[in-house]
Amino acid sequence: MNRRVFLATAGSALIAQERRLKLGLIGAGWYGIVDAQAAYKAGGVEFAAVADADTKMLDDAAALMEKAQGSRPKLTKRYEEVLETPGLDGVIIATPPHWHALPFIAACKRKLPVYMEKPLAYDIREGQAMIKAAKAAGNIVQVGFQRRQSEAFKQAADFIGSGGAGTIVQADVQIHYTAVPLDNTPQAPPPTLDWELWLGPAPKMSYSPNVGHKSWRLEKNIGNGHLVDWGIHPMDATRKALGLDMPKWVNAAGGTYLYKGRITTPDTLTAHFEFDRCPIVWRHRLWGSAEFSPETQNGVFFYGDKATVFAADQRWVVIPREKGTERQAHDIKPATDMGLKHMQEWLAAVRGQGKAGCTVEDAWKSTAMVQLGMIAYNHKRAIAWDAASAKIVGDPAAAKDLMRPYRAPYKHPFA
Ligand SMILES: NC(=O)c1ccc[n+]([C@@H]2O[C@H](COP(=O)([O-])OP(=O)(O)OC[C@H]3O[C@@H](n4cnc5c(N)ncnc54)[C@H](O)[C@@H]3O)[C@@H](O)[C@H]2O)c1
Repeated sequence: MNRRVFLATAGSALIAQERRLKLGLIGAGWYGIVDAQAAYKAGGVEFAAVADADTKMLDDAAALMEKAQGSRPKLTKRYEEVLETPGLDGVIIATPPHWHALPFIAACKRKLPVYMEKPLAYDIREGQAMIKAAKAAGNIVQVGFQRRQSEAFKQAADFIGSGGAGTIVQADVQIHYTAVPLDNTPQAPPPTLDWELWLGPAPKMSYSPNVGHKSWRLEKNIGNGHLVDWGIHPMDATRKALGLDMPKWVNAAGGTYLYKGRITTPDTLTAHFEFDRCPIVWRHRLWGSAEFSPETQNGVFFYGDKATVFAADQRWVVIPREKGTERQAHDIKPATDMGLKHMQEWLAAVRGQGKAGCTVEDAWKSTAMVQLGMIAYNHKRAIAWDAASAKIVGDPAAAKDLMRPYRAPYKHPFA
């Protein structure tokens, strides 16, 4: 490298480090704001534009941002206008899952770096279209599986990887909590909310607080239930800890027993994911807060022939099989701020320093895995998955659920 090129490169690297990154935010609800706060905490950013389908969310976001950065971002209902902002360095997308694919693909077309919230997409084929768009763009993408930054999961995975627990024969994953369904009588949406835009490509559905902001998670058409919404985090962490790719087949059973008529996804579920190495079993009870051992209500058991390892966000415990040996509990102190670390990693990648670790291809696998679980649940039978062709085999009815038709005028991005 000659001196001029060297100085120019070093100079622009310095500018890249010091210049405030200009970000956009699409979806300014609960987690959009959590992500924006993480970006402020990481430092060196400002939000130039925000999109939301609800003007109240826009006003609240603008007030917060004006305080944090001293200037008011451009506010709009249309995500396209965020992406058109001149000089944008990156965009955070935190809309509900049915609104992930289109803004993501539009951002890729502009080669913009994206921090994309989980699950990657509402359906499996959207996710593939997103992979294709990101590949074509070569843009920087970080998907919001921030538990990848969990020190407890990392240490547990290292311990398992070094053979500390022997051969892992099964992993049990669970998050039990007490869901609180809201009023589900069809009613007019709040005047600030553009419900038609909010629904976008999803099937036409009446508004009720139970499917509105933040509560859409247990609605089949939007969040597709607890396994896809929250369960996806420890399921992703388990897949990564065991170095698994995609399941060969998936089975699931359960139902809506306590909340019948109030939510449209199961309040009680067991799903079995069969991999070459070993099975992963998922369980949830959305009414089960009175647990025999509340400390394991949210986490993963890795059962090995030498030891069992329990891992949660900030703690992992080894329970050796041998009699007379004691449990070893490891608490992560101070607790890892996983969201901050995940955001820092993305922002550093945007500045040309390092890589964002959670790629769209890998996030698709964890997303597709749990979506297959819901397909098996809905069809009440085991589903066989062929990884090479990315197809459900031998079950045309279940295979239809790989792709949900978009509501006009929106067009499903999978060709
Ligand atoms: N990583 C995590 O731990 C984590 C935690 C919570 C939520 N999330 C994810 O974040 C995303 C948002 O979840 P949430 O809990 O904040 O939901 P939310 O309902 O609180 O917020 C979503 C926002 O998106 C807006 N919106 C809807 N359609 C839009 C559109 N076309 N353009 C712009 N804005 C639109 C809504 O009006 C709402 O304000 C989801 O994908 C969710 O899975 C991730």
